[in-house]
Amino acid sequence: MSEKRVVTITDPISGKSADCPLLEGTHGRPVIDIRQIARELGYFTHDPGYATTSACRSAITYIDGEKGELLYRGYPIEQLAERSNYLEVCYLLLYGDLPDHAQWEEFNASIRRHTMVHEGIRRFLFGYRYDAHPMGMLVGIVGALSTYYHDSLDVRIPEHRNLSAIRLIAKLPSIAADCYKHSIGQPYMYPINSLGYVENFLQMMFAVRAEPYVPNPVAVRALELMLILHADHEQNASTSTVRLAGSSGANPFACIAAGIATLWGPAHGGANEAVIHLLEAIGDPANIPKFIARAKDRNDPFRLMGFGHRVYKNFDPRATLIRQACHDLLRDLDADDQPLFGIALELERIALEDEYFVERKLYPNVDFYSGIILRALGIPLNMFTVLFAMARCVGWIAQWLEMMVDEEQRIGRPQQLYTGAPRRDYCPLAERGA
Ligand code: SDX
Repeated sequence: MSEKRVVTITDPISGKSADCPLLEGTHGRPVIDIRQIARELGYFTHDPGYATTSACRSAITYIDGEKGELLYRGYPIEQLAERSNYLEVCYLLLYGDLPDHAQWEEFNASIRRHTMVHEGIRRFLFGYRYDAHPMGMLVGIVGALSTYYHDSLDVRIPEHRNLSAIRLIAKLPSIAADCYKHSIGQPYMYPINSLGYVENFLQMMFAVRAEPYVPNPVAVRALELMLILHADHEQNASTSTVRLAGSSGANPFACIAAGIATLWGPAHGGANEAVIHLLEAIGDPANIPKFIARAKDRNDPFRLMGFGHRVYKNFDPRATLIRQACHDLLRDLDADDQPLFGIALELERIALEDEYFVERKLYPNVDFYSGIILRALGIPLNMFTVLFAMARCVGWIAQWLEMMVDEEQRIGRPQQLYTGAPRRDYCPLAERGA
């Protein structure tokens, strides 16, 4: 049994010491269990944005930011992207291993059985304005699922947790497509369960009842890649939100709705939409230096969307895979977005030669190229983050399931450093002066 390592932290003022256990995982940096500091030294620790804080033990995903490595349950993302499919990756993330034939058939059948959404849910959509952002609709509808599926809300029961997981993965494509149809005034399509997961989504998005529709296999493969690459990513902001919501015992539909709300932010999942706005604003490679200068100006809040990452200080491996897929897709579909792709490639080249970006290790992240693929597939801009949420839903659920059986986990409740007014007594209005 290896000697348990500790890190001793001594307070020079009191002379007291805290022996903090050093915890080591399979890969990555060891972590100091700092709970002794409060007990022995009486101090809390301070880490705004939790940039250096491990919030949980997890066996699902591992990122090496320095190497630009991403593993799902130990499998390199490059191998899964090339050889797997999204539903198989869902099984892997949820249950820890790749399925055998029997497990694969059962999982597929479970998902197919739950692709339809209660008709009452579709009446929610009628309440939204025609120009409502699909993310606003998605947050509301996913949260409302808990008002329909009362038979899978008791989070203490494993069967309820698993049924809610299956329902969410199966229904997200139907709900996402319904939000799109509502925004363009077309009638909703129903799932066709003889189709694969991605084909089914594309037909619900783009088919109309008056015409037959056959998904383009090139588009199917490109979208399958996008879903795999966005499926999970350790304790990012939206996943941490789902865990925090789940730590209170909230039902899974409410927790996933909270994750969707967090993903919507432009600093997180909303960046893919923001990147297209940026590339369109640049308009011509000749304008790139002007935008680079703005991104470097500390007095200008402007940032180069799609660049930088809290963890990756090397290329985001997902960005590398998506860049290649962009190239292939635009060629295969003979899409007219080459100019936008050209601006993206030139922007990447210039930025990666610029000291500001090199010094801060700001590389293209998953959002930098994903928008170009989605546009080439005919996905409208305001649906980009909905696609991200659809892909990440399995990651959120897998992390939620892991947390629900983690004996170390308790309700999340961070501390703070209070910097407000010192204690003072109430003063009646009459005595407060003019
Ligand atoms: C996702 O966490 C995840 O895993 C997220 C995600 C996932 O799969 O779940 O990977 C998905 O959210 C990808 C990130 C998408 N967001 C963007 O592309 C928005 C643009 N990026 C930045 O807002 C920023 O890079 C973040 C939010 C992604 C990371 O911010 P950090 O780690 O808090 O970095 P920071 O703000 O501390 O910046 C460090 C320095 C600062 O400059 P100095 O103060 O040192 O002078 O880098 C600068 C920042 O100003 N900087 C940028 C920049 N990103 C950071 N400068 C210009 N453009 C940028 N994009």
